[in-house]
Amino acid sequence: MSRKPIISGNWKMFKTRQEAQQACRGIVAGSSDVEGVEAIVFPPFTALEAVSRVVEGTSLRLGGQNVHWEEQGAFTGEISVHMLLDCGCQYALIGHSERRQFFGENDESVNRRLKAVLATSLIPIVCVGESLDQRESGRAREVVLGQLEKGFNELTAKDLFRIIIAYEPLWAIGTGRTATPETAQEVHYMIRSWLGERFSADLPGQTRILYGGSVKPSNVRDLMAQDDIDGALVGGASLDPESFVKLIRYQC
Ligand code: PGA
Repeated sequence: MSRKPIISGNWKMFKTRQEAQQACRGIVAGSSDVEGVEAIVFPPFTALEAVSRVVEGTSLRLGGQNVHWEEQGAFTGEISVHMLLDCGCQYALIGHSERRQFFGENDESVNRRLKAVLATSLIPIVCVGESLDQRESGRAREVVLGQLEKGFNELTAKDLFRIIIAYEPLWAIGTGRTATPETAQEVHYMIRSWLGERFSADLPGQTRILYGGSVKPSNVRDLMAQDDIDGALVGGASLDPESFVKLIRYQC
């Protein structure tokens, strides 16, 4: 089974409602004729509803940048799965490195969030990746597989078929320093093989693994040409609609 490529834009803490709507209009206008690519944007929570009105009826999809594991309750500053669905989201990012670095997320909280998402129709995109120190000390493999092992604790192969993975080496995020296509491919291949050994022999052929970290129009094609890279999770270069459209049109 072939894996449909995904080009996704994580807008982090950027854009007001109006700016987000305007960007989405530009993205839709520039990419509505593109087939065979799943394009997703992750606006800030405050812009989700506004953006959902712009993308309705188009092929551009919406996702939340984070999601809490409880259905509701006294969890100031958090957002529930139901709230994301209510705003038109189909995807949720889980365990982005900025959540791990700045907001105390760890593999256990990733696991809890993931289980909550899997109980609904939302599709989780689970982020993993090693730091520069960890890479330089030869521990990238151990770190990435450790994050997956703990993040996927108590999940079944059936759950795994619904999960998208994003490999985002910390040293490449927002630094302009992209992993070479070969380095990224090596990690993606390792993750794919591990999925097969750990969960199901059918999983590697179906799981989409995205690369993230300074992806831009000038390097997207070489990254996407790698056998095990099925898409991109883009921060900086997704903010400008023209640049994001170029990414979605990488095959054109
Ligand atoms: P970047 O961010 O493209 O700006 O490096 C990627 C990400 O954080 O998902």
